[in-house]
Amino acid sequence: MPEAGAGAAGTAARLEDWRQRIDRVLEAALARHPAAEQRLGAAMRHAVLLGGKRMRPLLAYAAGTAFGADEAALDAPAAAIELVHAYSLVHDDLPAMDDDALRRGQPTVHVAFDEATAILAGDALQSLAFAVLADAACDDAARVAMLRELAVAAGAGGMCGGQAIDLAATGSGGSAGLEALERLHALKTGALIRAAVRIGAIAAGAGADDRRSLDAYADALGLAFQVRDDLLDVEGESATLGKTAGKDAAQDKATFPALIGIEASRARLHALSAAMDAALAPLGTRTAELAALGELAIKRSH
Ligand code: IPE
Ligand code: IPE
Ligand code: MG
Ligand code: MG
Ligand code: MG
Repeated sequence: MPEAGAGAAGTAARLEDWRQRIDRVLEAALARHPAAEQRLGAAMRHAVLLGGKRMRPLLAYAAGTAFGADEAALDAPAAAIELVHAYSLVHDDLPAMDDDALRRGQPTVHVAFDEATAILAGDALQSLAFAVLADAACDDAARVAMLRELAVAAGAGGMCGGQAIDLAATGSGGSAGLEALERLHALKTGALIRAAVRIGAIAAGAGADDRRSLDAYADALGLAFQVRDDLLDVEGESATLGKTAGKDAAQDKATFPALIGIEASRARLHALSAAMDAALAPLGTRTAELAALGELAIKRSH
C-alpha cells in the first residue's frame, strides 16, 4: 500500500485502498469454477462482486493493521468474512425469508437465477469462505482460532440464530421487548461484525486487554450498524439503498424504529457512537480507521 499520510484524507485513502484490495482478493477467490458448475459460479459472483460496502473486510484490515499485522496476512480472513456475509444476504433475500427482489442495486440472486441456485450459491459461498480461510498466510494456531471464530459467529449462536429469532418475530415486530430486540440484532448482524474485528486481532496477535477493548468497540458498532439499517429502511429510498425501502414495516419486522420510534433510535445511535469512542480510547495505537468505520456505520446513507 502506498503511504497514505496522516489525517482524515489519509484515513479515507487507506479505506479506499483496502476496498480495492478486497475486491481483487474476492475476484481471485471466485475466479475458477469447473464447467459443469458454471451457472452456480455465476450466481456466486453475482452475490459477491456486484457492489457492497465491504464493511466487514475493512474492519478486519483496520483491526489487524492497528496491531501490526501485514495486509497480506489479512487478505484471506477479510475475504472469508465477506463471503459469509454475502451468503447470508443471498439467503436473507429468499422468498422463505425476507422475499426481496433488489440487493446492492441488482436483482437478488433468486430473481436473477432461480431459487434453488440461490440456495446452492449461499451454501457454496459459505463453504468457499472456510476454504479460503484455511489457506490464510499465518501460523497454524492463529488459523485455527480464526476458523473457530468465523464458524461460531456464522452459526446457531450467531448469525443463523439471529435470523431464526428475526423470522419468529416477523409479524409482531413492534411487540418485542428492547432486550430481546438487542439480542436479535447482536446475533443476526453483530456476530459477524465482532468476528471481523476479532479475526483481525487474531492475525495481529493482539493481547487480551486490547482484544477486550476491540470487543467493546465491535459490539457497539454491530448494534449501531443494524439500528442504522432499520432507520434507513424507514427513511431511505430504494435507489440510494440498493434494496427495497419500507420492507420492514410492510412485513412487521422487529426493528428499532418499530419498537422505540425514530427519534429514540437516533438517540441510541449517538450513545453507541460515544461507546465506540470510549472503547477505542485506551488502545493507544493507530485507531483512525476503526473510528472512521464506526462513524460510517452510524452516518451511512446506504
Ligand atoms: C446488510 O449489510 C445486512 C445487514 C446486516 C444490515 P450491509 O449493509 O453491510 O450490506 P452490503 O454488504 O453493503 O451490501
Ligand atoms: C439481515 O438483516 C441480516 C443478515 C443478512 C444476517 P436485514 O434483513 O435487515 O438486512 P437487509 O435490510 O435485508 O439488508
Ligand atoms: Mg432479514
Ligand atoms: Mg432482509
Ligand atoms: Mg434491514
